[in-house]
Amino acid sequence: MTEYKARLGDRSLFPKLKYRVYANHAGISAPSIAVSHAAQSVYQDYEERGVSAFLNWLLQRNRLKEKFATLVGATAQEIGLTQNTTRGVIDIALCFPWNQGDRVIVFKGEFPANVTPWQRAAELFGLQVVYLNTADYLTDVNSALTTLTAELKRGARLVAVSAVEFQTGFQMPIAQMAALCHEHGAQLFVDAVQACGIVPLSASEQGFDYLACGSHKWLMGVEGCGFLYAQKDRAAELKPNVAGWLSHEDGLGFLLQGEGLLRYDRPLKKSIELIEGGNTNAAGFAALEASIDLIQSLGVSTILEHVQAYHDRLEPHLLDRGFTSYRSKNPAHRSGSLCVKPPPGISVVDLQHALSNAGISTAIPDGVLRFSPHWPNSHAEVEIIVTEIDAYLTRAPRS
Ligand SMILES: Cc1ncc(COP(=O)(O)O)c(C=O)c1O
Repeated sequence: MTEYKARLGDRSLFPKLKYRVYANHAGISAPSIAVSHAAQSVYQDYEERGVSAFLNWLLQRNRLKEKFATLVGATAQEIGLTQNTTRGVIDIALCFPWNQGDRVIVFKGEFPANVTPWQRAAELFGLQVVYLNTADYLTDVNSALTTLTAELKRGARLVAVSAVEFQTGFQMPIAQMAALCHEHGAQLFVDAVQACGIVPLSASEQGFDYLACGSHKWLMGVEGCGFLYAQKDRAAELKPNVAGWLSHEDGLGFLLQGEGLLRYDRPLKKSIELIEGGNTNAAGFAALEASIDLIQSLGVSTILEHVQAYHDRLEPHLLDRGFTSYRSKNPAHRSGSLCVKPPPGISVVDLQHALSNAGISTAIPDGVLRFSPHWPNSHAEVEIIVTEIDAYLTRAPRS
């Protein structure tokens, strides 16, 4: 196997990437050659050996669980593999041991992936959904936490929040939220897809109960893979409402160990592996391991520092040109995304198109211009971005 080496600010593992600046890792990452080669090696193995390749990649996924666990400060037994972030939210929403009338707290401003499944669970299990506002945290974290406390005191079973907000890049105070939840008998569910791979996370230190994450953003894998963390005692309390054939203990034995093992009464797993009900995306998870190896070789904190230095250069140029920045003044609430509103009268849609045509990939979630560079982005890109923004602002129509 070829050894690939990641270097901060060095794009040489992305030789085919056509954009001059790819600042869209909060959207969809472009895979490195390490990632595409890892996926191809799975296809090649299956091409050559068919079913005999299966065990190889099953073992690879078990190894990968250790790596997910390291990323989020958990143990491999507390990790289950999913297709994406959303699937992880759905699994907990369906399997949580709800009682009719329970209250679940969600946030306006969140990506819908962390709202829709709770609304559906409310419909199915007779729950009440309470909406708080992510915007309150940007204004004043302490006062937002006081509002959360007041809702928790009214009684709530679960709070669902993102570790980093998708359209502002604000890093939420999840450790404080988890502590408040526990003080009032609730649990904290974290959507970590805008954090994992760029913001250090630790279940053991931050105390969240569940975490869901997909692969194609800051983990720099390809779409269709993800993982779900559930603290082990929480996992044991889940209802097996999404169980499939591989959710049973020894669920594979009847295919490998001879006659008489085909049964339907085997106990269901009491760990979060319960959610792995059937066969999965072998190539995607192999690709993801290659990407995580590169990220871990640099270290998540080091990558975050590199990205903050990028934003430290870019943000003042944007402010000088009349943009409004959502970046927190407090470094503890910053993340990989720098999100800004264009000057009054400038269309964010047209600006993003102009940047794209000039070879700069950004996103505009909820009408906010988002720059999300990662470890391969060089600080020298800032000059390219500023030059192209100036070129656009000079010719742009103003409404
Ligand atoms: C905060 C957040 N959660 C969830 C998603 C969706 O993730 P997935 O497609 O992995 O379910 C996104 C963006 O796509 C997001 O920004």
